[in-house]
Amino acid sequence: MRIAMIGTGYVGLVSGACFSEFGVQVCCVDKDAGKIERLRKGEIPIYEPGLDELVTRNVAAGRLSFTTDLAEGMRGANAVFIAVGTPSRRGDGHADLSYVYGAAEEIAQNIEGYTVIVTKSTVPVGTGREVERIIRRVRPDADFDVASNPEFLREGSAIADFMRPDRVVIGTESELAREMMRRLYRPLYLIETPIVMTSLETAELTKYAANTFLATKITFINEIADLCEKVGADVHDVARGIGLDGRIGKKFLHPGPGYGGSCFPKDTLALVRTAQQVGSPLRIVETVVDINDRRKKAMADRIIAACGGVVDGKTVAVLGVTFKPNTDDMRDAPSLDIVPALQKAGAHVRAFDPAGAHEAEKLLPGVEWTKDAYAALSGADCVAIVTEWNEFRALNLTRVKELMKRPVMVDLRNVYSPDEMAAAGFAYSSIGRPSGPADAE
Ligand code: UDX
Repeated sequence: MRIAMIGTGYVGLVSGACFSEFGVQVCCVDKDAGKIERLRKGEIPIYEPGLDELVTRNVAAGRLSFTTDLAEGMRGANAVFIAVGTPSRRGDGHADLSYVYGAAEEIAQNIEGYTVIVTKSTVPVGTGREVERIIRRVRPDADFDVASNPEFLREGSAIADFMRPDRVVIGTESELAREMMRRLYRPLYLIETPIVMTSLETAELTKYAANTFLATKITFINEIADLCEKVGADVHDVARGIGLDGRIGKKFLHPGPGYGGSCFPKDTLALVRTAQQVGSPLRIVETVVDINDRRKKAMADRIIAACGGVVDGKTVAVLGVTFKPNTDDMRDAPSLDIVPALQKAGAHVRAFDPAGAHEAEKLLPGVEWTKDAYAALSGADCVAIVTEWNEFRALNLTRVKELMKRPVMVDLRNVYSPDEMAAAGFAYSSIGRPSGPADAE
């Protein structure tokens, strides 16, 4: 089996490397010559645990290669995966499909024998059909089928998610294409992964339905957390109490500062727009989008409240700025709302992120970056945990207390317990749990 993977972003690179690990010959194609050059040298452009070794091993085994030349990448390929970006279109929130359609045009020109064209990018319903039309128009003689094979991997655990997924969704009406996809995913059949075979449109919608459902689940627990604070309940116990019901499920019930990342914000908005366009509005998801946007903005107010209502002239230490741990991804990270709001209120923000501040520096001007957590909180009036990197779970609290001007912690990820923080002498506030007064001097 031989495949071409168009696009070496998160999904393309991880999927390409994982397919090669399955024994498939994979050629990853990207227009960005610098990126391809770096990949050929074994330099991985994204931060993803384990990806480095996976790429190196499969390149060395001759199963994985990189090129900027689509014709070369597609030579002899049984299937071509489109894994290019589908960012939110400026202004209207629809997914921008220009990269997908551009790729389809180029693919059409290079089809040799029977080829399955698979969209792996998250694309609105109808995109696969349009890809089919484009290819048919450019190459009426081409022998091909289209399929949709959405990717459900998460950043930070991408390889494990790809190798041991809960399910694989494959949308195509062609039996030949189904057979090809079955062969590609053979190792997953062996571990009895459920494979959902469906139509093109159903597969496309399934991906959006999954992401919006998860975003809704998070938003639900976030609102319950706010309610818990008002009535003196503990959101973790509520989450456990409801999550043990198999119909609800335990996962994605962790409260926080609002979801971020490259998928949930973009995909919820895109589905809202699609639904409005076809006259079947998704009012729940519209509300989720609105609540989450407001929530991220409101997090700065919590920090300001913990500082006694005023941060002007005070130093706030921010631990973690990426949208979640084990990634350097800043897309729609809550920190992008929180930090500027604190600065606007007059705070001096000092921050540390284990992934480094390279990307964040550009996005968060005026922040003083430090080399570790203790340097960030030294002399600070308040420390806020914004991303739950493991190293923030085991801070030496005695040292933290000694270093800070005032022992005030706002824990937006609930990595500590109110009891241990009270015992350590902190004014501690978290999400959805009874906690002590947050304005200790
Ligand atoms: C998500 C989907 O999980 C994945 O299936 C899809 O392919 C891409 O989008 P990802 O964005 O990498 O993956 O991260 P995920 O772990 O799902 O977290 C998304 C956001 O939700 C993060 O901001 C995270 O902090 C937040 N989250 C997640 C919560 O606030 N609470 C939770 O319980 C879970």
